[in-house]
Amino acid sequence: MPVIQVEHLVKRFGPITAVNDISFDVEEGSIFGFLGPNGAGKTTTISILCTLLSPTSGRAVVNGYDCRLEPQKVRKSIGIVFQDTTLDKDLTAYENLAFHAYIYGVKKSEVRRRAEDALSFVGLTDRKDDLVKRFSGGMKRRLEVARGLMHQPKVLFLDEPTLGLDPQSRSNLWEAIIELPEKHGMTVFMTTHYMEEAEVCGRLAIIDHGKIIARGSPEEMKGIIGGDVVYIKTRNNLKAKEEIKEALGMTAEEKDGELFLTVENAEASIPPLIRAIAETALSVRIERPTLNDVFLKLTGKEIRREEAGGADTIREEIRAWRRKH
Ligand SMILES: Nc1ncnc2c1ncn2[C@@H]1O[C@H](COP(=O)(O)OP(=O)(O)OP(=O)(O)O)[C@@H](O)[C@H]1O
Ligand SMILES: [Mg+2]
Repeated sequence: MPVIQVEHLVKRFGPITAVNDISFDVEEGSIFGFLGPNGAGKTTTISILCTLLSPTSGRAVVNGYDCRLEPQKVRKSIGIVFQDTTLDKDLTAYENLAFHAYIYGVKKSEVRRRAEDALSFVGLTDRKDDLVKRFSGGMKRRLEVARGLMHQPKVLFLDEPTLGLDPQSRSNLWEAIIELPEKHGMTVFMTTHYMEEAEVCGRLAIIDHGKIIARGSPEEMKGIIGGDVVYIKTRNNLKAKEEIKEALGMTAEEKDGELFLTVENAEASIPPLIRAIAETALSVRIERPTLNDVFLKLTGKEIRREEAGGADTIREEIRAWRRKH
């Protein structure tokens, strides 16, 4: 049973169609990633699912409740971690969690245990009595995830949860996020434009200009590329080519003194390949297609190039300007 159902969703802002007739389902207990470049429509979609925006047309159902008709019920059943922090900076970490629990009507006797569990889950136990205004960006984001767990929502929505964090904070937060389905029985819906993060999601939708251009598991998507490329360095390319031809019925090609061939599935092809060229091979290397290759193939552009023009670059430019003035 899908926990999120989206049917022909459209959102227009005046002349701009931010979300252009998208449909998808999210299965319970999965991590679903919404991948796309800047301006693709990710935040708009997630905002509709969280009932912060209403759709122009189409339907979104979360936990069995229609986002347009039953927004209160949707809100009670979800947790939200968005980019703009809504933590109270003058409260401690623990107080922020307790306050949230109070708003959601969590039983008093439950609050302490849940807060302690949530803080330990995100690795903030030893900072629980510190004021949030003394927290780093990464700690705040982790505290928001902890807060999102306090009312035990069925679905947690995260909009670019690791954007702007340093690599260490990113990986700490990631470790917590990927454990949510198993440890807390939650479904996670998250947006990202980081390929590495999208790789970890069980299912993905790639969105560009408000349209979903591909859906499936990361592996299925990479199937669009048509296979893995195996590169082989050998003592004798001619001999190796013959051996490969004989064993696999495939013709290896040569580039920069190396042999290479595209195989459907490297795991299955490597053992017979190695057996065939055991004497002649010096080294074997596999290059798997990335989600960036998929995006490139589908749209003709790289997702990363747009990322490079994003917040980090702008921040760097502002810093440079400040140094000058
Ligand atoms: N409130 C708004 N009013 C007008 N246009 C909007 C509004 N919100 C979003 N848009 C436009 O809708 C499009 C999609 O924006 P959205 O914020 O959903 O993209 P995104 O995929 O989240 O991008 P990013 O990676 O930069 O966060 C953009 O063209 C944006 O300018
Ligand atoms: Mg966004």
